[in-house]
Amino acid sequence: MPVSGSDNLDPPPGVARHRLSGSDNLDPPPGVARHRLSGRLPVFPWDTLTDAAAVARAHPGGIVDLSVGTPVDPVAPVIQEALCKAAAVPGYPWTAGTPELRSAAVAALARRYGVSGLAEHAVLPVIGTKELIAWLPTLLGLGADDLVVVPELAYPTYEVGAVLAGTRVVPADSLTQLGPEAPALIFLNSPSNPTGRVLGVDHLRKVVGWARERGTMVASDECYLGLAWDEQPYSVLHPDVSEGDHTGLLAVHSLSKSSSLAGYRAGFVAGDPAVVAELLAVRKHAGMMVPGPVQAAMVAALDDDEHEAVQRERYAHRRQVLMAAFASAGFTIEHSQAGLYLWATRGEPSRDTVDWLAQRGILVAPGDFYGAAGARHVRIALTATDERVHAAAGRLSSPAR
Ligand SMILES: Cc1ncc(COP(=O)(O)O)c(C=O)c1O
Repeated sequence: MPVSGSDNLDPPPGVARHRLSGSDNLDPPPGVARHRLSGRLPVFPWDTLTDAAAVARAHPGGIVDLSVGTPVDPVAPVIQEALCKAAAVPGYPWTAGTPELRSAAVAALARRYGVSGLAEHAVLPVIGTKELIAWLPTLLGLGADDLVVVPELAYPTYEVGAVLAGTRVVPADSLTQLGPEAPALIFLNSPSNPTGRVLGVDHLRKVVGWARERGTMVASDECYLGLAWDEQPYSVLHPDVSEGDHTGLLAVHSLSKSSSLAGYRAGFVAGDPAVVAELLAVRKHAGMMVPGPVQAAMVAALDDDEHEAVQRERYAHRRQVLMAAFASAGFTIEHSQAGLYLWATRGEPSRDTVDWLAQRGILVAPGDFYGAAGARHVRIALTATDERVHAAAGRLSSPAR
């Protein structure tokens, strides 16, 4: 797996270790290991979009930012009120989550996604799911002897988690690619970021059966499960997938997109009670607690399906407008049956498409952020206001300025 960025702090050949200027002294700061951890991680991909962003921002009609996928709609009043009501509480929050939060999560998974048989102690709140994903292999005690499998086109944090724990990591979409290996952990993501692809029940069942035979844990990142358009995604905990047995299974749920709570940092993990207990045991020591007011806000969000439906409708509308506009501008849209993104190509390198769109004041993410297989695609997020989405559609139907 290509992991760029050097962990070698030596200066290039011919350059003195303590450079004359002094200001770019390459010694690490006191207390930081000579082979810095950050040096093992991939280049932060968004830093490579700076030039395209500057071009898009210079458009006279302003930028339409469809790159990062950050929510733009205000948090529902029912959630804000719950946050405010808990704002005066001075004590430390529960790492395990309040009983109200755990039961609200169990009830929401049952109501919204048909997950049954989940005990309240099989749920654990996390400080946004990016945090959980990045630390999961470490929290599970995995290391150099272990293998983590990630999707071929994937949210980069799966690989980051493996690198932080020092495990081996392999991108693979099919089990046959793995040969006789018995991975410690497989990440699934349906609906997918970036492609919007949905894994069918049969596929999920096959992965779960295979994982059980090999003693592999399955972590299913389900943060887009509530955004179903043309295909119905399933939770790994759904009885049609798990057969009612959650052993070795974890479902990872974020409230960032379904309830526009990205700024609150609110998510939870649910599944195998023994694994959840183990995560809790480590997280208690590490101070990985969700703030109390955020836990209260999560209860309100999980109890209320109304705001979630309103948000889904907003994205459905934006998706229709953007799909039509990109298709009429000559893009081919692939997958995208569910989730928060359109996966599109003009049959050229993705950075050329990023530049073509930036000329029109539209910023998208190049597919290469997510793996080599994305080199000719771009990811278009549905997260802009209706006004910005219509502005993008107008620009796509007229020549560049
Ligand atoms: C696939 C996937 N998983 C997890 C996350 C992290 O979400 P959060 O940390 O906001 O819960 C994202 C965010 O975009 C994502 O796309």
